[in-house]
Amino acid sequence: MTHALSVSPLQMLLQRSSTGDLVSPAPQGEQLAEILSAGLRAPDHGHLRPWRYVVIEGESRSAFAEIVLSAMSRQEPGAPEKKREKRRKRFSETPMIIALGMHIHPDHKIPVMEQEMSVAAGAMNVLNALYMEGFGGVWISGPFCEDRSLLSHVGLQAPHRLAGFLLVGTPEDPSYIRSRPDITDYMASWSADMPVRFGADGGEW
Ligand SMILES: Cc1cc2nc3c(=O)[nH]c(=O)nc-3n(C[C@H](O)[C@H](O)[C@H](O)COP(=O)(O)O)c2cc1C
Repeated sequence: MTHALSVSPLQMLLQRSSTGDLVSPAPQGEQLAEILSAGLRAPDHGHLRPWRYVVIEGESRSAFAEIVLSAMSRQEPGAPEKKREKRRKRFSETPMIIALGMHIHPDHKIPVMEQEMSVAAGAMNVLNALYMEGFGGVWISGPFCEDRSLLSHVGLQAPHRLAGFLLVGTPEDPSYIRSRPDITDYMASWSADMPVRFGADGGEW
């Protein structure tokens, strides 16, 4: 399923909203490969290719949900049972989960933050590609993503880490569009004799 061609690519970017209310199907096969390939089009200083995607679906989800809960026990020991149950449900019932691996070179001349930003830019491309193909998703994270045991289960040994997970499927309500802030509060025209101020900051520095 793809969106009506009458909507321009820019309008699609402006309409995309994250959602965790997802049902089947999730993309498969060649379509999934193309959507993830959009992630590999992210800017990548030094061509370090830091993106690693691990796809979790079907029967594997419940086993992975248990790994998430074990990681939570270590990283978020005070988490209320309600939060644990929400995570269990999300990881065992969402049609597809994609772990966003960051293959990091800590001592490279390209700063680690730039490597991480490339993974983030790739994740955004994947979210946009999902939406353009009629799917949806949401990027989630939390202290459990730092857990070294969980990281090893998705093939990430130190110093490699996770930028979080994409929950992926088909939006329950495909017409949902979140209201957005106004760009005039977030942009400024620079000139040599005027200080830069943004409406978003109440006109203050
Ligand atoms: C790195 C990162 C981590 C996030 N982690 C969570 C999270 O754990 N839980 C959550 O509800 N939203 C999280 N969000 C926010 C959602 O992904 C999403 O941006 C938000 O629901 C607003 O939706 P929008 O993308 O339509 O603006 C995270 C966003 C980013 C960029």
